[in-house]
Amino acid sequence: MSNWRTSYKSKLISAAEALKNVKSGDRVVIGHACGEPPTLVEALVARAPELRDVEIVHMVAMGPAKYAQPGMEKSFRHNALFVGATTRKAVEEGRADYTPCFFSEIPRLFRQKILPVDVVLMQVTPPDDDGYCSFGVSADYTQPAAECARLVIAQVNRYLPRTGGAKIHVEQIDYLVEKDEPLIELRPPQIGDVERAIGENVARLIDDGATLQMGIGAIPDAVLLFLQGKKDLGIHSEMFSDGVVALAEAGVVTNRKKNIHPGKFIATFLMGTRRLYDFVDNNPDVELYSVDYVNDPYIIGQNDNVVSINSALQVDLMGQVNAEMIGRRQFSGVGGQVDFIRGASRSKNGKSIIALPATAAKGTVSRIVAQLDCGAAVTTSRNDVHFVVTEYGIADLRGKSLRARAQALISIADPAFREQLTQQAYQMGLL
Ligand code: COA
Repeated sequence: MSNWRTSYKSKLISAAEALKNVKSGDRVVIGHACGEPPTLVEALVARAPELRDVEIVHMVAMGPAKYAQPGMEKSFRHNALFVGATTRKAVEEGRADYTPCFFSEIPRLFRQKILPVDVVLMQVTPPDDDGYCSFGVSADYTQPAAECARLVIAQVNRYLPRTGGAKIHVEQIDYLVEKDEPLIELRPPQIGDVERAIGENVARLIDDGATLQMGIGAIPDAVLLFLQGKKDLGIHSEMFSDGVVALAEAGVVTNRKKNIHPGKFIATFLMGTRRLYDFVDNNPDVELYSVDYVNDPYIIGQNDNVVSINSALQVDLMGQVNAEMIGRRQFSGVGGQVDFIRGASRSKNGKSIIALPATAAKGTVSRIVAQLDCGAAVTTSRNDVHFVVTEYGIADLRGKSLRARAQALISIADPAFREQLTQQAYQMGLL
């Protein structure tokens, strides 16, 4: 038996025993999104009566986030680097915090000890013959956190797909908790007529041979429905989901035209159903790397014809994009939106697309607005934005004056709001 196998056995421990090593005042980083280790998080929450002021750092929380529920305030303070469905209320009520930062910058916050990591809780696959475990569906900030944490606790889970790219050796992990359990899944979104119309418009901007980045949700999935006729698409994306599997199986995604990592699907995390997890498991063409690499605009820009597709809550008539706040309420975060918009700008013939429904709240609110809501943040600046797409068409803002931008954006607003927007634009001196 080689050394790592002996070492592996000596590090095996129950979740409750492993989590006893968390101290009051520690900063605990939890593996991202569907990579969250449910058993370890549960064991941490069970220690609530004994712990005080433990900071829990996480991005898209896909689990129940019990640490952010009312009554947990004294034990845990959640620091959200992106606000998700299960943490939104806690942030809104002031029981949790939101820290703005580009996804690509998070590893730097950890490594440079701006946010020093005491403990990381993550999932890994069982080790290979050389003692290396895969990070499965979350390399992003999980790998960098594991590199610099005081204590690394890993749930070893046979359900976790073994993906290529980032890996960690058993010797770099302090405690191993064997627990096989199905991964958290992201169900495919409902795609309605509006999303289909947006998807069709976006697909018109995607040429054969393009390398795609897609965000999460109904719009990116709707776009994929209209790509069946394309050829040799590639994926270099923050994440991808089940929709990409269908395109890969249809031979539309080949990754052949990429300049870096030709032939490979590159991502930093994955969210989907078991269909996706089975597709990526031991697939030699799928590689996950940490987010400071995958989302680095200089890396993204090395591929030609990069198309980034992200969504937004509002776009104002100058082209400023709010993708994260509804009024003063922090709804989500910047994530990798700006990383990829800047990467697409650097790419030869690259295009960045903000795709959003023209209205919200059952058609009562226009998302193309004269001014962003009072208190809302600018996620993507007017200098960075390229294309804005709604179900009514495409506004190409590149190289356009403020006057031309306002005209282009009004032309893709819901017709019911165009007159009002035009009047506001005149009052603001934009027209
Ligand atoms: N005013 C009031 N309410 C609004 C609104 C507005 N301008 N815009 C949206 N809403 C409401 C919607 O009606 C919806 O409410 P409902 O759930 O009651 O129907 C809710 O807010 C969510 O809007 P929706 O458009 O359905 O959100 P989504 O799930 O498609 O996500 C973003 C859109 C912008 C929030 C999401 O893409 C995001 O967080 N982006 C930023 C990060 C990013 O792009 N990362 C890169 C890739 S991961």
